[in-house]
Amino acid sequence: MRYTGSSMAADRPAIFSIRNVKKSFGDSHVLKDVSFEVYPQEILAVLGPSGCGKSILLKMMIGLIEPDAGEVYFEGKRVTDMSLPEKTELRRRVGMVFQYGALFDSMSVRDNVMYGLREHYAKKLSEAEKEDRVRGALAVVGLAGTEDLLPSSLSGGMKKRAGVARTIACRPELVLYDEPTMGLDPINTTRIGHLVRGLAREMDITSVMVTHDMKLAFEAADRVIVINEGLVVGSGTPESIQNHTDPRVKGFVEGLDPEWTEEDERLYGVP
Ligand SMILES: Nc1ncnc2c1ncn2[C@@H]1O[C@H](COP(=O)(O)OP(=O)(O)O)[C@@H](O)[C@H]1O
Ligand SMILES: [Mg+2]
Repeated sequence: MRYTGSSMAADRPAIFSIRNVKKSFGDSHVLKDVSFEVYPQEILAVLGPSGCGKSILLKMMIGLIEPDAGEVYFEGKRVTDMSLPEKTELRRRVGMVFQYGALFDSMSVRDNVMYGLREHYAKKLSEAEKEDRVRGALAVVGLAGTEDLLPSSLSGGMKKRAGVARTIACRPELVLYDEPTMGLDPINTTRIGHLVRGLAREMDITSVMVTHDMKLAFEAADRVIVINEGLVVGSGTPESIQNHTDPRVKGFVEGLDPEWTEEDERLYGVP
């Protein structure tokens, strides 16, 4: 059964536990005190304005950045304390879809998707098995047959999906999506939301999406937390966040979403 609300939280041990994390750069206190959990099989959206520290949080979760204070636990083990092989194993099990897709322009789609496989499965899979994984991952994201193309000939939405294919080719248990709809139009935003939900369901993937895109968070997530000015100011189901009475959440929800207008809603509908 999917995680659908806070009532189930106590029943299941968290996969990730972020506890009282702080991070500053010079005088800028980006994360002041952030705590949240990620539970098995849920789709969690971490929603907040640009610059509030969302990418930093994801990088902390896979051990690329250390918090100034507080802890990040993965299955009860502090990420900071992990050895290099443990961190490598963490990054195999927890895949990251980077903000700009992070595709290599000079490599074909095939080689881009192959990239993670070579890193994590160099000797564990034969070339033919790797080819199979690449084909399978591209098919799942709706990009079958694009193997020989260069990223420059893909649309924005296709590039995002190729980035997702690269991550899921490694069969992660959990996927962290960094702004998966940045720069996309409403139709492609909805498509990415469906893709995230489809992958979660069919491949049993726990998902964390950090985003400033409320449409994505409300359409695709089971649970949403809102970060503003370095603190978690709201947490709950998409419905409860949309109807939140706390002014810090309300202000954000009502004041932000310049890209999705009533006109868009009339044109594209709300799926
Ligand atoms: N390595 C760094 N050095 C200095 N400032 C940084 C560094 N990384 C991030 N920041 C600052 O921290 C803030 C939050 O960054 P980020 O996590 O990228 O925000 P978000 O992903 O929510 O847009 C930004 O203001 C950014 O300029
Ligand atoms: Mg970011």
